[in-house]
Amino acid sequence: MSPEKQVIGTESQRSLIKDYARHVSEPKANFFKSIGFGVIQGKREGIRITTLEGVRKNKPPRVLIDCRTSGGVFNLGHNHPEIIKALKEGIDGGLNIGDHHLLSEQRALLARKLAGLLPGDISKTQFCVGGGEAIDLAIKLARASTKRKKIISAWTAYHGVTGLALGAGDPRFKDAFLWNPPDFHKVKFGDIDDFRKVIDEETACCIFEPIPATGGILIPPKDYFPQVRELCDEKGVLFIADEVQTGLARTGHPWALDGGLYEDAKIVPDIVVLAKGMTAGYYPLATCSYKPFIEEVFEDDPFLHISTTGGSELGCYVSRRMLEIISQPAFLKHVREMGRQLGNGLMEFKEEFGKLITDVRGRGLMWGVEFINDRYGLGYTLSMIENGILADFCGNNEKTIKLMPPLIVESDDIDEILSRLDVALKKLPMPK
Ligand SMILES: Cc1ncc(COP(=O)(O)O)c(C=O)c1O
Repeated sequence: MSPEKQVIGTESQRSLIKDYARHVSEPKANFFKSIGFGVIQGKREGIRITTLEGVRKNKPPRVLIDCRTSGGVFNLGHNHPEIIKALKEGIDGGLNIGDHHLLSEQRALLARKLAGLLPGDISKTQFCVGGGEAIDLAIKLARASTKRKKIISAWTAYHGVTGLALGAGDPRFKDAFLWNPPDFHKVKFGDIDDFRKVIDEETACCIFEPIPATGGILIPPKDYFPQVRELCDEKGVLFIADEVQTGLARTGHPWALDGGLYEDAKIVPDIVVLAKGMTAGYYPLATCSYKPFIEEVFEDDPFLHISTTGGSELGCYVSRRMLEIISQPAFLKHVREMGRQLGNGLMEFKEEFGKLITDVRGRGLMWGVEFINDRYGLGYTLSMIENGILADFCGNNEKTIKLMPPLIVESDDIDEILSRLDVALKKLPMPK
């Protein structure tokens, strides 16, 4: 066998950062330098990633436990052997992206698999490249199906940076682009009275993350989504669930709205959007799945929504393997158990560091720790990194840090994560 070709760390970190600043983004390079984390990602394996620091000087690299997972992209950790095997099988078996206009074996098989896992009669799937594109499609479908324009989403939501997804998101990401399209209405997440005031017979859809992630891992009251569903049915409004971060077993259940949020409050949305972890970190793939009646939108023109690289056949093949793994009852039980261990440990921090931590909330392996103010969000992010944990604060709720380790973490790993988080907490300055 020929030796593996080196692809990571072929040049010094310093020269790569210079190239990054020169040719990718100087503001981003400067930002990371300013917070003392000007590093380039190196090798990655299981729950850990390394940086290129010291690599060319033959010093040990910095190792971090990945509790960010890019919002769930690395749901099976890094380089999961089954996923690599599937990727190689797919390439060796002759798959590539495939022609998006033609009928496709791999898309049919993945869509069938999803139909078997998704709640209710959600049984049709269209393929996209990223989450934003799939959200755009979901909103387009809702508008075309209802022949209505109005869209309801939550303040502090994040659904992506493409046109309609951006419209449904927080002002932070759209104001600079002078993007304030009409017909987008915002409600306070979890407040059913606010929702009731806004929803009407002109509304096409509402779109919610079951647990807003960028918004700060918010947990709605138990009766919130059942009431949202009821009001949607009453007014003929479609309910879009953005399960991009909460889906694919993150909560210890395949879907947050189907038992992950509250075990005995199961909701069937009309449309479900998935992305991020769809190929466990190897191929961009997102999906928009919906109930059969919505397909009427494509009756006259089946090519009304198309995506050249959406639904890569190679990605679909890998995705099926990921779904087989995460949907095993033993795997889901493992996520619930690890989640309990992590959650209990974090609750204990709340007791011990009551002057700093105002709330701890989450489900499965998705947890938020809320601090007394935004400064602690950044401060604790840096302290975690210093102590070997890669995690960060929520983009639309900076006082809350988000912990989403790979779903394959073991009990010993959780102990190590908690002990590192503890040290990182003890290094924070106490408020005066
Ligand atoms: C909940 C949610 N929806 C949608 C998106 C958009 O996905 P993408 O970045 O793949 O466009 C994201 C991305 O972070 C997300 O967190």
